[in-house]
Amino acid sequence: MKKIFLLAGIVISMMAAAQTHIRYIENFDNGWKFILDSVNEYSAANVNDTAWRNLNLPHDWSIEFAFDKNSPTGVGGGALHGGVGWYRKTFTLPEASSNKQVLIDFDGVYMNSSVWVNGHKVGFHPYGYTSFRYNLTPYLHVDGTPNTIAVKVDNSKQPNSRWYSGSGIYRNVWLTITNPVYVDHWGTYVTTPVVNNASATVQVNTSICRADTLHKVTLNTVIVDDKGNKVAHKINTLVELNDSVTNVSQQLTLTNPKLWSVNHPVLYKVITTLLDGKSGLDDYVTPFGIRTFGFDANNGFSLNGEHFKINGVCNHHDLGCLGAAVNRRALERQLEILKGMGVNAIRTSHNPPAPELLNLCDSMGLLVMDEAFDMWKKQKNPYDYHLYWDEWHEKDLRSQVMRDRNHPSVIIWSIGNEIPEQWGGKNGEDSSGKMIARELADIVRSLDTTRPITAANNNPEPPNMIIESGALDLIGYNYHHQLYAAFPQTYPGKKFIATETVSALETRGHYDMPSDSIRRWPVRWDIPFNNGNPDLTCSAYDNCSAPWGSTHEETWKVIKKYNFLSGQFIWTGFDYLGEPTPYGWPARSSYFGIVDLAGFPKDIYYMYKSEWTNEPVLHIFPHWNWKVGDTVDVWAYYNHADEVELFLNGKSLGKKHKEGDSLHVWWRVVYQPGTLKAISTENGKTVLTQEIKTAGAPAKIVLKADRNTIHADGKDLSFVTVTVVDKDGNTVPYADNLIYYNITGQGSIVGLDNGQQTDLEPFKGTQHKTFNGLGLCVVQSNGAKGDITLQASADGLQGASIVMKAL
Ligand code: GAL
Repeated sequence: MKKIFLLAGIVISMMAAAQTHIRYIENFDNGWKFILDSVNEYSAANVNDTAWRNLNLPHDWSIEFAFDKNSPTGVGGGALHGGVGWYRKTFTLPEASSNKQVLIDFDGVYMNSSVWVNGHKVGFHPYGYTSFRYNLTPYLHVDGTPNTIAVKVDNSKQPNSRWYSGSGIYRNVWLTITNPVYVDHWGTYVTTPVVNNASATVQVNTSICRADTLHKVTLNTVIVDDKGNKVAHKINTLVELNDSVTNVSQQLTLTNPKLWSVNHPVLYKVITTLLDGKSGLDDYVTPFGIRTFGFDANNGFSLNGEHFKINGVCNHHDLGCLGAAVNRRALERQLEILKGMGVNAIRTSHNPPAPELLNLCDSMGLLVMDEAFDMWKKQKNPYDYHLYWDEWHEKDLRSQVMRDRNHPSVIIWSIGNEIPEQWGGKNGEDSSGKMIARELADIVRSLDTTRPITAANNNPEPPNMIIESGALDLIGYNYHHQLYAAFPQTYPGKKFIATETVSALETRGHYDMPSDSIRRWPVRWDIPFNNGNPDLTCSAYDNCSAPWGSTHEETWKVIKKYNFLSGQFIWTGFDYLGEPTPYGWPARSSYFGIVDLAGFPKDIYYMYKSEWTNEPVLHIFPHWNWKVGDTVDVWAYYNHADEVELFLNGKSLGKKHKEGDSLHVWWRVVYQPGTLKAISTENGKTVLTQEIKTAGAPAKIVLKADRNTIHADGKDLSFVTVTVVDKDGNTVPYADNLIYYNITGQGSIVGLDNGQQTDLEPFKGTQHKTFNGLGLCVVQSNGAKGDITLQASADGLQGASIVMKAL
């Protein structure tokens, strides 16, 4: 059905099932000026900013710094500087915006942001991870005079984070223009109180703002399915607007609902239209999903009645060499890689994520544990959020829940990670943890009762003030896999989630033998640590972990065994900037990831893939470049087969199969150069074969783009993997060649990396070394259509080039 609405001079047509068209929403990312300056003030309406740098948001200035041993952020914060940055933008509003509401939405600014419009201060927002809105209407010119907005971002007080935070307006900004009667910020709340195969009841609560004298409106609510078909409809006429905000509740029924699940993430939309008589006042779109889920004290997690484990990972928000600046494609790539190994859930450790992450999880079918805080009133770092706790925690928690409660992917709220208040003192004299936990749970429940509340406890045993508060629906343990089996006795009748697990340590492509002895590193925090590893590596055999954690296999074996364990969130899916446990400088990024910082999977990825997916897997490692006579342990992860046979230069080294609960097989081999070959078989029939050959000297560069065609939108990315190979095309497992890049056409290089935790080269520029044979070059569209040609060269190697298209 086509409707025409007239909005004070702006004629807009819409299909009932399409995007919003009455309200005007503009992505406000482009055309900003930027300066890093902790001395001067630039909040006035008129500032000469012509000499400032031009840039588009999202922007993270910290990632542009060189790594610095003396950075006040410490290696924990990625050894990259914070500071004070100013952003300014000049914009002119159409005359049609007089008598309108002009609203600006910041998805996230790290941190301590202050905003001025035409010299008037409109607000301050300390927390770097929550989204916020300002109503700019009273301060704006709508007569064609230019307006200026100035944003000060103060990330100078360090340390304020246990990981790399990034600095600046690192998420998207939006400008919205509405009529004076409009749907409030995050003004719809959609739930599905009754769901069965035949029908679903959809409850839609709508908050309507009134900034003028209009008293009555019509509220028209339409539900459309994933194909855009209208499937339910409700009109409330003559809704009385008595207050500045009026809440209206509607129930709609739709038949034969298509359920949202991890394999079929079907999304519906609620399209809300406000009308004055026949003319449209506002429209608003809310994607949602229809699903049921639950946690059971005996049987763990279920979605739409089907029981399965939550196979989750924790991630921080940085995107490796792109820093904290959010990019939809970079997030999507991370999630694609993780889904490829069977991950079905993400924990947004330890803070609310960018909205794009939740949109992607909704559409890709990933469950989410949405976390609020890494600390409450008691600090973890001198300048962290505890400074703002008293004034801000309620506002921030409300904003998180209001923003995220319509996402079908979100299935758990976490009110905090490893909160110091869980300890109540020697004799339990400090009960603040109980009180705060109850207060936070009450805030969440006042806004959403459809998801359980947890907290990630690193002291899971009694007494724990947060658990004892009774505020949690799900008891969350961080680590302590040795205690999982006794959970039903420790907390009878309670439901369980392993909120954080493992913390194994690995460097991609690096192997310490013997592989069957486990390193628990660091041994101590208070003595300089290198454990005989001056190259600051950790072994990728899954034989190295933090002492509070475990190897990957240790924890998964336990989770797998007991039905009452609903699942886990492994620390971490991807390596992240900062927290280079077990080392210090020059290590500056984490070793915890299943995937390295550049997005290259470590070997353990294939253990999970063999366990968590149905795809046939055979993965042998390590590489085959050793000293003749070395003793080398060869591991294989496999599935869909009953045994694996290993051959060296055609000679069988024997058949092996997994025994008991083991998750890999292995051989101890005396090294000879040549070809290592594994064959997995089922009932004697070959399932898969894998070969690794001893590589000769580095000879050539090979480039491979994850996507050869990208959108010409100035944001889309192609991730190009750079491999150094020998003359026969074998990856050279130790190659660390310096690669020079040259790009022409409609793209630019926005990041370079190789996944090495100790690499101190900048992420920006046109040259970067490979590490253990691999490098990454991230190419971004510059906004125009056409070819993008990337060339790579290195001394002594045959270069390579590829052509991508921006369309
Ligand atoms: C946990 C903590 C994480 C990270 C991890 C490293 O205790 O929750 O943020 O620090 O340890 O092992």
